[in-house]
Amino acid sequence: MIKFENVSKQYNKSKALDGINLEIHHGEFISLVGLSGAGKTTLMKLLIGEEGIDGGRILIDDIDISKVKKSDMPFLRRKIGMVFQDIKLLPKRTAFENVAFAMEVCGHRKEKIYEDVPKILELVGLMHKRDDFPHQMSGGERQRVAIARALAHRPVLLLADEPTGNLDEVNANEVIDLLLKINQLGTTVVLATHAADLVNKVKKRVITIENGRITLEQEKGRYKL
Ligand SMILES: Nc1ncnc2c1ncn2[C@@H]1O[C@H](COP(=O)(O)OP(=O)(O)O)[C@@H](O)[C@H]1O
Ligand SMILES: [Mg+2]
Repeated sequence: MIKFENVSKQYNKSKALDGINLEIHHGEFISLVGLSGAGKTTLMKLLIGEEGIDGGRILIDDIDISKVKKSDMPFLRRKIGMVFQDIKLLPKRTAFENVAFAMEVCGHRKEKIYEDVPKILELVGLMHKRDDFPHQMSGGERQRVAIARALAHRPVLLLADEPTGNLDEVNANEVIDLLLKINQLGTTVVLATHAADLVNKVKKRVITIENGRITLEQEKGRYKL
């Protein structure tokens, strides 16, 4: 589904990513681990086209993303959902409205939105919170709404960049369990984290990145750094 071929990315004069070769297959769950500054976020930014690459190429379903016309980028972009450590929900909108808004932006019709949003909230276990505002939720619940929002346009790939970074252990575990469930339902998931305990719990493919290079690849791996 996704192929990095000798990809490098430079900021100013320092290499953030250097000679990355990586294949991500449909249905996989990948933990991308590494210390702060290793290049995890950069790798995700290249995938969503937020940053351009300086060498090599990235293929998504055999399409070279550097050759995609700017006007076609939104269509490619919709294949990918993304959640971050800092959860930016709309503060004056309810859980329902936050997810609905993401669908409106994509041009979905009202009927479709009213049909789909409850299903997505059900999936993330937050139907009972549908009319609550972000300030009425726990950090874990807010992150689950953010995940629901990222799923609104039915991406084939979900990128989660340190999604548990601001959460306590109980909330972090809830978010990881949800990512595993989403993966079981068929969405490919890439989880970037430096939380060793979570990675060891997940026991899926682990890619270790150090100073912009992949240094270890393990099936059913553990966090080693
Ligand atoms: N916008 C930027 N400008 C300059 N340097 C950057 C920028 N973004 C990231 N970097 C540098 O690239 C390297 C990788 O960063 P990043 O991908 O954010 O790592 P991680 O997500 O693993 O913590 C770091 O050395 C960081 O300082
Ligand atoms: Mg990062």
